[in-house]
Amino acid sequence: MFILDSKDRRPLHVKLYDQIKNQILSGKLIPYTKLPSVRHLSAELSISRNTVEYAYEQLCTEGFIHSKPQSGYYISLLDQEFIPRPCRTTATLIEPAFEDEKTYSYDFHPACLSPDSFPSKVWRKLLTDCLQEDPEQFASYCNPQGELELRREIQRYLERFRGVSCDAEQIIVCCGLQDSLSIIAQIMRGNHSALAVEDPGHWIPRSVFQNYSFSLSLIPVNSNGINLDYLKNTDSTVIYVTPSHQFPLGYVMPVENRLKLINWTETVGGVIIEDDYDSELRYHGKPIPALQGLHPKGNIIYVGTFSKVLSPALRVSYMVLPYQFLSAYNKIFRNYAATVSLLEQRTLYEFMKQGHWERHLRKMRTIYKRKHDALIQAIDRHFSCRVNILGQGAGLHVVLELVDNSLDEKELISRALENNVRVFPLSDTYQYNNNYPSQVILGFGRMNPDELEKGIKLLSQAWNYNKR
Ligand SMILES: Cc1ncc(COP(=O)(O)O)c(C=O)c1O
Repeated sequence: MFILDSKDRRPLHVKLYDQIKNQILSGKLIPYTKLPSVRHLSAELSISRNTVEYAYEQLCTEGFIHSKPQSGYYISLLDQEFIPRPCRTTATLIEPAFEDEKTYSYDFHPACLSPDSFPSKVWRKLLTDCLQEDPEQFASYCNPQGELELRREIQRYLERFRGVSCDAEQIIVCCGLQDSLSIIAQIMRGNHSALAVEDPGHWIPRSVFQNYSFSLSLIPVNSNGINLDYLKNTDSTVIYVTPSHQFPLGYVMPVENRLKLINWTETVGGVIIEDDYDSELRYHGKPIPALQGLHPKGNIIYVGTFSKVLSPALRVSYMVLPYQFLSAYNKIFRNYAATVSLLEQRTLYEFMKQGHWERHLRKMRTIYKRKHDALIQAIDRHFSCRVNILGQGAGLHVVLELVDNSLDEKELISRALENNVRVFPLSDTYQYNNNYPSQVILGFGRMNPDELEKGIKLLSQAWNYNKR
């Protein structure tokens, strides 16, 4: 695509000539590719045919392109050796946590789902139905807060399954955690400047709030969730927590501490951001109800996602804003457009309305319970009592703590990789990468029970636990 800069005062044919030449030299235009016809390009750029012809002829003369009779103009093959390459600017590359493009035979990624779990057949049908039912709706922008019908379905689901009490008008459909947290940070920053986060904890809240100039307080995590005494000694007035399944250690915050945390918000005029990311997936006992349900009128912002049960690639999540923040939301985001496509929203709405979501949820709980149990049994079999498993019984990952092992985290990971097994560093979830105990994160969503068994066996051999 060519764009003629109107601020550039040179003649049009020179600007066009320059653009094509530069794109050939930079490799953007590939040898033997056909250029648009003179007629098409002149119409596309609203310039005369003469101007395009002029530029093409010049490029032909210089050998950048050539013409084929009855066919058109083509990019010529140039000797790559003599093409000057622009200097690469060197920037420090910061690796995003957990990202690595390589594939491994046994991949314990903590946020991947079963490859065959997406309900493609139903989704495809519903998507096609949505396209056919009212094509006109795709000719305009949709509700920036998310389609009301979808929000109603989410509201019903949250009330029934998560004990969240809210109205559909409080729900905002977002495209993932970072999107909802960016919205929250912008609402909060008028009255708050410090965020408390769990340590260890998810890296996204830290990044998002730091990007909005919040200072961070790191709150240590214990088996009761966060350390509340520690929180009280900070100047934070906003806290991000994962009370129903602490990420990554898996603890559940008991109701007594939930009430104390709510009390803290009332005392300091604070706000709780409750991330309820995977609480649908609890394999033993009853689901843990959301903290929001304990005080629906309080300053608790509830955040949830479809990434854990449906698909992380869809990028659909939601949040529930207390009424007291809705006017700020409307004021700040008045001119913003929706971030999730209408087609996905309509399809998801039908998926929920027609009962597929509940069925899918039940099915996924059964599949992941099987995988979870297979993982725990494999760990017991190959490591016996020389490890502790943290956070079992829910979600899609556990933390493995090696008791009598002299290998540090780096060595554990590199030895695993040598055996084509990928495990994940717990240290990535701490703000500062100091020397942490020999612990790694094992996700069990992606692999089937057989692969989990083999992967664990290989790990025990790689770490010298089991020579069999
Ligand atoms: C703690 C936590 N919250 C939320 C999410 C989901 O984020 P998203 O909705 O952006 O996919 C994840 C995904 O792994 C997570 O670990």
